Amino acid sequence: MKRIAVLTSGGDAPGMNAALRAVVRYGIYYGMEVYSVHRGYEGLIEGDFERMHRRSVADILHRGGTIIKTARSERFMHKEFREKAFQNLQKLKIDGLIVIGGNGSLTGAKMLSEEFGIPVIGIPGTIDNDLGYTDNTIGFDTAVNTVLDAITKIRDTSSSHERSTVIEVMGRNCGDIALYSGFSGGAEIVLLPEMETSVKEVCDKVKEGIESGKLHSIIVRAEGFPVSSQDLIKALKEETGQDVKLVVLSYLQRGGSPTFRDRVLATECGVLAVELLRDGIFNRAVGEVSGKIVHFDLAKALEAKSTLREELLQGIKVLSM
Ligand code: F6P
Repeated sequence: MKRIAVLTSGGDAPGMNAALRAVVRYGIYYGMEVYSVHRGYEGLIEGDFERMHRRSVADILHRGGTIIKTARSERFMHKEFREKAFQNLQKLKIDGLIVIGGNGSLTGAKMLSEEFGIPVIGIPGTIDNDLGYTDNTIGFDTAVNTVLDAITKIRDTSSSHERSTVIEVMGRNCGDIALYSGFSGGAEIVLLPEMETSVKEVCDKVKEGIESGKLHSIIVRAEGFPVSSQDLIKALKEETGQDVKLVVLSYLQRGGSPTFRDRVLATECGVLAVELLRDGIFNRAVGEVSGKIVHFDLAKALEAKSTLREELLQGIKVLSM
């Protein structure tokens, strides 16, 4: 394995730079030439490569975002553009490609390997934590800590004004950001895409809280929950008579310096990805299971469903009574 390329794709996540740094520096350490691809699969289609050196990744370990840029490539969904990407990889004689991204991005890597025989390795980079084969994805811990910080601040003002707040968080179809931030932030209610909860249940819970002397309720709603934040607030205002505010955390959750956990996970995944390519082991997804950095067949890994820790939900119900 002489020449490898690395790209970041999909929504950026804190720790992507740490993974990139590990790939570049370990690749060079093992005697490889390392290229980065700008703007994910878009850069692969355009042939936008950059030869990386040890200093190319200086001073990025602590930075959120991704210095090689990212994109959601609509074109890559079409075979003609994947063919173009393949040709660009061949032109540069790239022997292996490392993709840092979420579900869609790793599926793109799988397609490249299946259709054109490109040796690929997937690194899980997304704040959503929606890849079932790994306990954690890079960026998830930082995002949850960002939400937790917001909950803590919102709690102060909600309590002072005796009002409730709906905090809308990201995660696409996965409720993990809401679940873990709600659990650790002492939320009264978390609303997840994976778990049915009626508007009536939410209103009843808030009303019970008011009757038992609660000054406020914090409701963390995952963006994938089927009832919109606006509809929820309307119902809550009508049913409880309390003032209810909405805070949408949006892209705040994707920015910021990665936590130590995300830096360690990203670095270890980056190192393993390079070592797999060095050892001729291809089409693998690297990740973390029970604290160990491991790798699985990429196609099988992508089939794994993420599981919800329902005991945390139960905990929230009891703890917030
Ligand atoms: O996948 C990461 C994520 O932040 C999701 O939580 C969210 O639904 C989506 O990306 C937003 O995507 P965009 O950057 O295209 O607005």
